[in-house]
Amino acid sequence: MIERDLFPRAARYVYMRTDSAVDLTNFNQLHPEEKGLVSRAVDRRKAEFGDARWCAHEALAELGYGSSEAILRGEGGMPLWPDGVSGSLTHTEGFRAAVVAPVDHLVSVGIDCEPAGPLPEGVVDQIARSQERQQIDTMRSNGIEWADRLIFCAKEATYKCWFPLSRRWLGFDGAEIEVHPDGTFTSYILARPAPVPFFEGRWKERAGFIVTSAFVTAEHAARFIH
Ligand SMILES: CC(C)(COP(=O)(O)OP(=O)(O)OC[C@H]1O[C@@H](n2cnc3c(N)ncnc32)[C@H](O)[C@@H]1OP(=O)(O)O)[C@@H](O)C(=O)NCCC(=O)NCCS
Repeated sequence: MIERDLFPRAARYVYMRTDSAVDLTNFNQLHPEEKGLVSRAVDRRKAEFGDARWCAHEALAELGYGSSEAILRGEGGMPLWPDGVSGSLTHTEGFRAAVVAPVDHLVSVGIDCEPAGPLPEGVVDQIARSQERQQIDTMRSNGIEWADRLIFCAKEATYKCWFPLSRRWLGFDGAEIEVHPDGTFTSYILARPAPVPFFEGRWKERAGFIVTSAFVTAEHAARFIH
């Protein structure tokens, strides 16, 4: 659990590494209703779905939710957590993770992981605002080749934090990421209305993966949400 500081202390974060073989062990142990959500999917999708939900059940157990209930899918594809819990899931080839927290500590949270390599040609123009492109150039000149992927990953975590709060779409132009070298970032929300003007974020690159979190603490929310 070396990356626990990706989140405030009240959160529980569980991740797993996987190899390229499709392994349905975790999927097979899910609740029938969970399995039913991806019953028509290919095995690779079932495997990532099962692994991330396995991480989520482990994390919920750490929060004290003994035999946690099925984590179903809500509006817009967001995961549905037990009452009083916020959380988020992510999966990419080789890495799956989940984070959960009591809502009275974290009102909303998003997590995303990406391979630590540059985005495919042309994608940066579709996802980055001009200030973000300047940051990418600066980070690249400091040797961070995957700077564009970091911005992308921070934006996806932002979306997963945003959606449960607003129930609205947020395009890549809808928030501007400011990355800080200390492993934090700020996600300024440009869409209006917005529940809070910015989300706090954290990032890490480790063993070939970038993981980002975006969150709204209860303290932060209390300043803006009445
Ligand atoms: C939804 C989205 C963020 C998922 O990210 P991804 O990198 O493709 O996939 P990940 O594996 O990291 O995450 C997938 C998980 O996200 C969660 N998720 C999906 N839709 C969600 C939503 N609306 N709100 C919160 N979480 C959501 C689900 O748990 C999903 O896993 P599951 O289907 O197995 O339950 C992405 O597909 C997307 O639509 N992005 C465009 C919106 C965006 O990023 N805007 C930028 C704002 S600045």
